[in-house]
Amino acid sequence: MMKKIRKAVIPVAGMGTRFLPATKAIPKEMLTIVDRPTIQYIVEEVVASGIDEVILITSEGKSAIENHFDYDFRLDTLLKQKRKRALRDELNKISGLIDIVSVRQKEPLGLGHAIWMARNVIGNEPFLVLLGDDLVRSETPCCRQMIELYSSVKESIVAIQRVPRDQTFQYGIVEGSKTKHKRTYKVRRMVEKPAPGTSNSDMAIIGRYLLMPEVFDFLGKTTPGHGGEIQLTDALLALANKRGMYAYEFEGKRYDAGDKLGYLKAIVDIALEHPSLGKQFKDHLHSICNTKKCC
Ligand code: G1P
Repeated sequence: MMKKIRKAVIPVAGMGTRFLPATKAIPKEMLTIVDRPTIQYIVEEVVASGIDEVILITSEGKSAIENHFDYDFRLDTLLKQKRKRALRDELNKISGLIDIVSVRQKEPLGLGHAIWMARNVIGNEPFLVLLGDDLVRSETPCCRQMIELYSSVKESIVAIQRVPRDQTFQYGIVEGSKTKHKRTYKVRRMVEKPAPGTSNSDMAIIGRYLLMPEVFDFLGKTTPGHGGEIQLTDALLALANKRGMYAYEFEGKRYDAGDKLGYLKAIVDIALEHPSLGKQFKDHLHSICNTKKCC
């Protein structure tokens, strides 16, 4: 019988060097996009996809993430005394979002190793992986789209997007052939960050995976690959060869929030749609365009 997808792994152990000095004392996942830390958008996608439990793979200095989703008795009491009802409700909504379990990755050995750390909490059931740098905005949450496809294909799925050929070296790249399912390809090959000009495909893996638990057998055996790290992509290729795997061109827009420009784009797009700020923000952008004659 097909097992329900109940758990999502979110690796948050990375150092965030691309955002230094901003990330010297705070985790990169806590950088704010308009009015919420980046990680909250990721957890909200998980919740909107019907998942029951999040497993954070953490490292030293990441406790702010756990605190963000925890209930803060002192703060709640203070807000109650001050009769700040709306703010209290908002904070309690965040702490009640979902059950969160943390596992420490003691050494930075790579994404594959980070996911392997979740093996005992996941056990023998399929699960999701979301990378915190990839923010996806879509009508149907990206993970929900993948869960829907899983009910038909019943195997692992990686979400992909087409990227310009000169950018393929920044991603895990998938080669595959079309299937009868919409926007779905059967994976034939996958390579982590191929050298420029060495790949025939423009299908890039984004940070959303739905994986069968057998992936842990391969992760346990994966030796260091690209960059000297244990790569998830290498274990996925072994899993694809053994049981099959699908690549799914998700519907929606992805932002690379781990990159300064991608992060700024996410802020602008989200701010423009913000219920109380959107209108004024749009007027402000117009006024910049008018004065600087930039558009
Ligand atoms: C990771 C994965 C890579 C994937 C990318 C998507 O790389 O290893 O396969 O394409 O995320 O964001 P990273 O960007 O963490 O180096």
